[in-house]
Parts: sequence; structure tokens; C-alpha cells
Amino acid sequence: MKDAQAQTIYLRDYTPFGWTVESVHLTFVLAPEATRVRSRLRFVPDPKAPAQEFFLQGEDLTPISFAIDGTPVTPEITPEGLRAKVPDGPFTFEAEVEIAPLHNTALEGLYMSRGMYCTQCEAEGFRKITFYPDRPDVMSVFTVRIEGGEPVKLSNGNPVGAGEGWAEWHDPWPKPAYLFALVAGDLVAQSDSFTTRSGREVALNLWVREGDLHKCAFGMEALKSSMDWDERVYGREYDLDVFNIVAVDDFNMGAMENKGLNIFNSSAVLASPETATDANFERIEGIIAHEYFHNWTGNRITCRDWFQLCLKEGLTVFRDAQFTSDMRSAEVKRIVDVIDLRARQFAEDQGPLAHPVRPESFQEINNFYTATVYEKGAEVIGMLKLLVGDDAYSRALDLYFARHDGQACTIEDWLRVFEEVTARDLSQFKLWYAQAGTPRLAVAEDWQDGTYTLTLRQTTPPTPGQPDKAPLVIPVALGLLSPDGHEVLPTTVLELTEAEQSFVFPGLAARPVPSLLRGFSAPVVLERESSREERVFLLAHDTDTFTRWEANRDLARACLLAMVTDGADPDAAWLDGLETVLRDASLDPAYRALMLGVPTQSDLAQALHDRGVTPDPEAIWAATERLRDARATRWAELLPQLADEARVEAPYRPDAAQSGRRSLGSAVLALTTRLDGGSAAEAQYDRADNMTLQLSALACLVQAGRGAEALARFRAQWQGDRLVMDKWFGLQIAASDPAETVAVTEALTRDPDFDWTNPNRFRAVFGALAGHHAGFHRADGAGYDLLADWLIRLDDKNPQTTARMCAAYQSWRRYDPDRQAKMRAALDRIAAKPGLSRDVTEMVTRLIA
Ligand code: BES
Ligand code: ZN
Repeated sequence: MKDAQAQTIYLRDYTPFGWTVESVHLTFVLAPEATRVRSRLRFVPDPKAPAQEFFLQGEDLTPISFAIDGTPVTPEITPEGLRAKVPDGPFTFEAEVEIAPLHNTALEGLYMSRGMYCTQCEAEGFRKITFYPDRPDVMSVFTVRIEGGEPVKLSNGNPVGAGEGWAEWHDPWPKPAYLFALVAGDLVAQSDSFTTRSGREVALNLWVREGDLHKCAFGMEALKSSMDWDERVYGREYDLDVFNIVAVDDFNMGAMENKGLNIFNSSAVLASPETATDANFERIEGIIAHEYFHNWTGNRITCRDWFQLCLKEGLTVFRDAQFTSDMRSAEVKRIVDVIDLRARQFAEDQGPLAHPVRPESFQEINNFYTATVYEKGAEVIGMLKLLVGDDAYSRALDLYFARHDGQACTIEDWLRVFEEVTARDLSQFKLWYAQAGTPRLAVAEDWQDGTYTLTLRQTTPPTPGQPDKAPLVIPVALGLLSPDGHEVLPTTVLELTEAEQSFVFPGLAARPVPSLLRGFSAPVVLERESSREERVFLLAHDTDTFTRWEANRDLARACLLAMVTDGADPDAAWLDGLETVLRDASLDPAYRALMLGVPTQSDLAQALHDRGVTPDPEAIWAATERLRDARATRWAELLPQLADEARVEAPYRPDAAQSGRRSLGSAVLALTTRLDGGSAAEAQYDRADNMTLQLSALACLVQAGRGAEALARFRAQWQGDRLVMDKWFGLQIAASDPAETVAVTEALTRDPDFDWTNPNRFRAVFGALAGHHAGFHRADGAGYDLLADWLIRLDDKNPQTTARMCAAYQSWRRYDPDRQAKMRAALDRIAAKPGLSRDVTEMVTRLIA
């Protein structure tokens, strides 16, 4: 595995596997350093596939024995797998291999996490368990026997037998190997049940370590809500007698949708009011839904190959967002998602890592579980739904499930059901899957004799490997407002298909104000030089909650950019307009909290770069601080009033209503701290009975430079809770002064509790460093170097997590030559590490290309 020859896989090279696998029987005899895996696979030649040699993937496996139809054979073994001569007709292939889960620090395949066995097979981890055609279009029925002394032994499907030291599972649904899972350990369950609408009784279990049982209630409720929602909204029922979820402490990602046995990072499922924040609860609800929804969009209908990843991920993200919108506030969810899309996906699309929603080549597929595949992939589905309408969307989905159940599919299959249901030609729309980059939309207006004309012009900038772009189908949701703030054109979806196109609105009494891209109807950058007056008008009057929020964001950004480039004062007209919104008690507190947000410093850096100005991280930091101070002073009277409105008297509940209030409260507390130096925060810290309030107070105290005592108390209180200690690590870095960020990070890496092999802890620390714009981009390059040192160290143990974190350097080209040189040097140093993994090699190569 370490001899990372760069082998590139291309979508256009797809060829089906030469055999179908009728059945899979696996036996695991568990031992930390010498687990035996016996497999019995029934192969039948596939007449539709081209003739090929028999090759099974397999990596890091110690071969013990092989047989074909009962006769011992000696296949040729390579670092990637095995080759064998096989009979012309059907045959049974048996293998026994040995693996060492205890030494598997990459957390792919079968590994151990604090004494418990667990697996992660997506995307290509099954080949580290045994020899197999490890590709998603090979689906089979698995029977699994587990032998070992662990009290709980789980696999996919339904339990079919158990005795002293063994358990057997059978999964009746054919599945690709990436959905295989096994768990064994000393676990306890929070149990419940769910009756599907056709009457199937499903046993639900959430398996955890003994001490975590009190953190299971919320996850279980989220699971039941998800099951109910998918029945009501998509008509999808669960299809096994049991649904198991297991929490593990060492996990590269958030969670995994293995058939009937979802495996979750503890951070993505365990929560109690004392230990988890409102944001944690909301994320848990969304991830549980997401993994559950994969049972249909991913498992029953899977991907033909990994280029089709967005087929399951984009769709499932879209579905989990619909679920969250229904469970909480749709308006708030949309804004939060757009903030996230811009921060992560737009940044990716504008840098060297840009790739299409359906990539055309890769070296390591793990590097393509990206914001583009996931979040832009979900946006593409949202656009499709908007273009065809809700009714056609749901008929297309019904057809998709009916036609493709049990199959491994492509984006072509997905689009075809929409074409058939709507009789619409989607060939131009399909470009959204093939063309990388964020389209820019320029807007020109004309007003004459009661007729308003809107001219839209689209361009998509070049991205790696794609210099020229064709026009896309862009749904632009538009409303028109009269000068007195009435809606004269309710939301209408314009379909932009040409490079440039005009839309005419006759018969208007006065020149209207356009409210463009309502609900963020397409993932594009709107380039519109609208006046400050118009934005202030929309902030006051827009009837669409998204564009109203957007007007505020545009004002905030323009204000900050002027502060950075011209040393301007904060924009009083904007702040007055915003104050009116903040005072409007009829508005949801969560929405007002979002209005209090300002663009991230990284977003400002990109905006400056787009305008031909080299961003200076220190100046951006200073301007942001100056704006915050000015707002605190300006709103000194208003803040206590808002704090009152934000107060929650009832016992803690992580629902939308309460968490919205608390998010307003913490935004207000951050401003208040600038006035009182932390007294209010100290009071809140002392009386906090939930983690949301405790943590927001602690952040304020650290920011105000009086966090030392509270940090020590916090640590003493939460020393035994890993997930809370992750927060303790991350917060100190996130809330640090940029001059101190690197030193704080460095000091924390010497802390005895800094277990850098645990992905959550590593991310808590280095994710916070990379996320601190001014701290990370310190002029002397110390931030770049520190991160590189640790990425080099982690790569030997865990390439997947290391590779993901390399994205911290993705915007290196937008800074000054000095910083560019320092980031480039850090990347070169990583690239030069002997034995660098394939994962990181690919990332660094793309970053410096
Ligand atoms: N299938 C993925 C998990 C995965 C990702 C496995 C990459 C292997 C490699 C899972 O469904 C997923 O998408 N999880 C997300 C959370 C989700 C809410 C977007 C995750 O783990 O971050
Ligand atoms: Zn997923």
C-alpha cells in the first residue's frame, strides 16, 4: 500500500465484472492481532460481461489457503489482489486469510476502537478484510458467522442464530461489499421498536459503551422520526426485522449506512443536554436521518461505480435537508445550508481541487467525498425539482424506486426517469454533473414605459482540465417589489438556458426592485452592482426570507470590504436597517441570529481576490473586529433587550424554538462581552445547565482574555468525556487572538490528552487551526508549518483523515507571494515525505498543479 504508484481510474473505462456472485458466506474468528477470515463465494459467469481474467481485490491480507470447488489452488497474489485460473462455468471459491485489526490505524476495513471490533468498508475497505470483487456493481447475499468472546456480535441483516462464543447473521437483500459491516464488543443497547405502515415490527437498537447509555435518547427519537418521515414523504418503508446503530470513538467520517447496521462516530450520535450543544443535536438528527435514508437511496439502489457517488450522496443530502426543513425551520435550514455551501463548496470550486459533481477520474476515491459531490450534488437535485415541479418530482422518484430497486445505477438512469415523467429533454441540464466551477450570473436591467427588462448573462470560469464551459440551465427564482414594498410579481422561476437571455415584464406602474435568486434557487454567484439603497430596501421589505437575509449579507460584505480597503467606517445605513430587523419581535429569534452573522474572513479574502485585491488576513481580522466593536457600542441599549427575548425559562429541549433563542442569545453575549469585558459571560457560565450555554460563555471568556480559570474548571468537570474534551481543545484555538493561535495549538499538541491518532481529537485541534483565518495565515508561515508537520506525522497512521485535511491549503494561490511561497513550501515538504500515501499524494499533486 505504501508504494503509491499513481494509478488513475477513468469513468470512461468502466467494464462490468465477469461474474455474478450468487452468495457470500463469511466466518470471522476474532483476535486482535490475528483474526481469521474464511470466505465461500459462489461465482456464476455473466454472459453480458466481456471475457476477462479472474481478479479479486485484496490488500494487506496474509493468505492462508485457497480452494476452487473444494480443490486447493495457489492463486497469484499481487499488492492489489489475486489472479486465478477458474472454470468456465459456475464455481465456488474459498479463501482463508489473516488480518490484524489491532494494528489497523487507517480505520478502513476491520479495525479496533478502544477494545471493540468494527468495520468501515466504503469505499474500498472490504478488500482489506478478504479477497473480493470490491466494486459497488457486484451485489450479493451475505451470511456471516462471528466467533469470539465479545458479548455482542453484530452484522448486517437479521440475526439467524447465536450460541456461546458465536453469532450468525443473514442479510436477504443483495448488497455491494462496501455496505458490509461487523461489530463485536462489550456493548449495551438503548432499545425501542417501530411498526412500519405495512405492519412490520422492527427492533431498534442503539449500541454504546455502558457509560454512554444516557446519551442515546435523542438519537433514538431521531431514528423513529426518520423512519416515519420516509414513509410519509417518499413512501419508503424499512425492510428488515432489526435496525442497529453502533457508536464508535475512532471513525474517519461522521457515519456509515451499512445495511441494517449503521456505524456512527460517537460525535454524530451521542448527546445529552449537559454534554452536547444545540448544533450537535441538530447535526445528530440530520446524520441519523441521512444514514437511514440511504437504505433506499444508496442501499436498495446503489451506484454502478464510484464516479456515480453523487447518485446516492447528493440525493440523500437533499432528502436529509428536506427532513430537517420539516422538523425544524425550513427558512433557517436553507440559510444555514447556503452559508455552508459557500464556505466549503464554492471555495473548492474556485481552487485547484475543483471537480465536477460527477468526476471523470480519480486516484483515490476517498478524496472525492467532497462538498462538490455532496452539497452541490444536493443543489442540482433541488434545481431539478424546481424545474419539473413537486408533482413531477415525486412521480419521477416513484418510477426510480420501482424501476431500479436492487440495481447499481448511474446518473443517466436517474435523469431518465425525470425525462420520461416530464417528456423534457435534460441533456443540457446534465451539464451540471459534468462541468466544474461556480457559474457567475451578471444582471442588467432596463425600465421603459411600464416595461421592466431583466437581462441575465452566465459564465463559468475555467477549472482544472476544463478551460471552456457551455451555458447551463439555471433556474432563477425572481420576485418584483414595488417602490412602496409590495410584491408586484410573486416568486416566478425564470429558466436561463442561453449564455445571455432577457426576460420582459410589461404593465408595471413603477420601476420595480428585483428580488433575485430567491431561496438560492441555483448554486451560482450573482454579480450585481446594486446600490446600497436598494439592498437596504430589500432588507426592510423583501417577502422572501432568504433574499432578505442575503441583502443583509451583501451589505455586511460591502461594508467590511470598504473597511479593509479604504479604512471606511461601518455603514450606518446598513446598521440602522439591521437594527429594525433585530427589533422586530415577530421574527424568529433564529432568523435574527442569522442576521447578526457576518461573512467569514475567508469569504472576505475570496471577495477581495475576486476584485483583484490581494487579501491581507491581518487587515481582514482587524476590520471584522472593528465592526464587531462598533456594533456592540452602537447597540448597547438594544443588547439587554435582545438578551431578555433570547432567554429560555423552560427545561432544556434541543428543538428549533429553544435553540433559535439560544443562538440569538449567544450572538448577543459575544457583543455584550465587548462592552463588559466578560461579566455577563461569567454569570452565564456559572449558572449554565446545558452545554450550549456553557460553551458559548466559555468562548466569550477566552476571547475576552479571561478564560484561564473557566478553562481549568471546564477541564476538571469534563475530563472523562472525550466528546466534551474535543470542544475544550478546539475552542481555545478558535477563540484565540491571531498572534497566539499557533502557540496555543502547539501547546495543546503537548497536552497529555492530545491523542492525535483519534480523528475527532486531531480534527478538533487542526480543524480549528485551519479554520482560524488570521491565525493560520500568520505572515511568518508558522501556521502552515505546524499543520504540515502534523499531516506528515498522521499520514503513516491514517491517510484518509490526513488527505481530507490537506484541503486547508486549497486557497493558497489567492494570497501574497510571500504567503504563497510559504504554503507552497509546506506542500512540497508533505509531498517529499518518503512513503507518502496514495491519498495524500493525489491531494498534494492537485493542490500544487
Ligand atoms: N457514506 C457516507 C460515509 C462515508 C464517507 C464512508 C466517505 C466512506 C467514505 C455517509 O453516508 C455520509 O455521507 N456521511 C456523512 C454525513 C452526512 C450527514 C453527509 C459524513 O460522514 O460526514
Ligand atoms: Zn451519505
